[in-house]
Amino acid sequence: MYKLIINGGIALNGHVKTAGSKNSSLPILFASILANNPIILTNTPHLSDVSTTLRLLMDMGAEFILESDNSLFVDGSKLTNLVAQYNLVKTMRASILALGPMLAKYGKAKISLPGGCAIGSRPVNLHLKALEDLGASIKVESGYIYATAKKLIGAEIHFDQISVTATENIIMAATLATGTTTIHNAAQEPEIVDLVNCLIKMGAKISGTGTSMITIEGVDELSGVTYAVCPDRIEAGTYLVAAAITGGKITIKNVHYQSMRAILEKLLETGADIKTKENSITLDMKGKRPKAVNIKTSTYPNFPTDMQAQFTALNAIADGHSTITETIFENRFMHIPELSRMGANLALEGNTVVCKGVKSLTSAHLMATDLRASASLVLAGLATTGTTTIERVYHLDRGYETIEEKLKLLGAQIERVQD
Ligand code: UD1
Repeated sequence: MYKLIINGGIALNGHVKTAGSKNSSLPILFASILANNPIILTNTPHLSDVSTTLRLLMDMGAEFILESDNSLFVDGSKLTNLVAQYNLVKTMRASILALGPMLAKYGKAKISLPGGCAIGSRPVNLHLKALEDLGASIKVESGYIYATAKKLIGAEIHFDQISVTATENIIMAATLATGTTTIHNAAQEPEIVDLVNCLIKMGAKISGTGTSMITIEGVDELSGVTYAVCPDRIEAGTYLVAAAITGGKITIKNVHYQSMRAILEKLLETGADIKTKENSITLDMKGKRPKAVNIKTSTYPNFPTDMQAQFTALNAIADGHSTITETIFENRFMHIPELSRMGANLALEGNTVVCKGVKSLTSAHLMATDLRASASLVLAGLATTGTTTIERVYHLDRGYETIEEKLKLLGAQIERVQD
């Protein structure tokens, strides 16, 4: 197993390029099932969640080639095995995104139930109920979802709760359904817009994306396309926090600042100077200690839960008191005990962390627990003088492409070493 060793206390400085979005790439890879011929994706990130998706698709009979120019050729058009096995699904909950496309194209799917994960119970009831509304028969037995449908029929879908992947699953299912589907209370995340842009290029008829009401008119077939995945706003946000927490100045390239408004507003509140251009963001902290900011996570366009842990690390060393309230996942606080071991003054009260910023943390030996919690420990390590060791970095590899290489480009002293 690998661990990261960080010699922190250095202000980051320089340029870094954001990779393609993880949360766009995954649904778009599953959308390849809907097409009648291969798709070619560019700007896909090198992440273990992308590899898991490709393994899952291969298990079902899909083929893929990583071309020399880094584009990804994926032929998911002729699946031979309509089963998503537990051994892969358990490592990546987004595997549930295979359900809608398989059902729409083949009228049949068997998918392992994802189960809980470190950040909460994460049920899939919204996915299943909405697919039933489209006419699917669903039973859950021995840990698997068995879904069948002669032909999905367009319907009015009312989500009780906003869900990103449930919205994506139903959009994909409805593209090949008979008639019109309207999704009410849909999620509005930019990654859904990215998926829909790709589906429209494939021949789907979809309107209203980026709003809470999305309409899909079913078509007979979809075809393969070449598509560039949008930049990863969470990766970009994490590097911006790295600059803010170390008092540095960095420029992020290959980024859509328009989709990062809530994150940038909070960074401005910390005292950072921020300049945006068409494809870049420059953050300059001018060596200052950040001011503490209150955070409340919510659905897009509000502050994303995927940036909560990183801002908790920032608040831990910021000037002032703050509260960080998590409203999306019930247990997304795995980073709190580890940050506390570094001397952070954090108290968990229900779903709110009450934080009294301290001037500095002390380096420690830490354990990564989930993807974004791990990112927060890296940020804390970067801000702390001395040597911080972070174990179980495979969590980071799910969502950050070569994180240590990118941080080294910014002047960080960070190494990945094998146990
Ligand atoms: C997606 C993102 C993840 C992000 C999250 C919230 C991907 C691959 N992952 O996850 O990075 O943190 O959105 O922005 O895009 N829920 C139910 N029943 C369901 C589905 C969801 O109760 O059937 C609940 C969840 O437990 C959670 C809330 O709804 O409390 C939102 O979850 P959801 O938007 O579905 O998250 P994901 O799509 O899994």
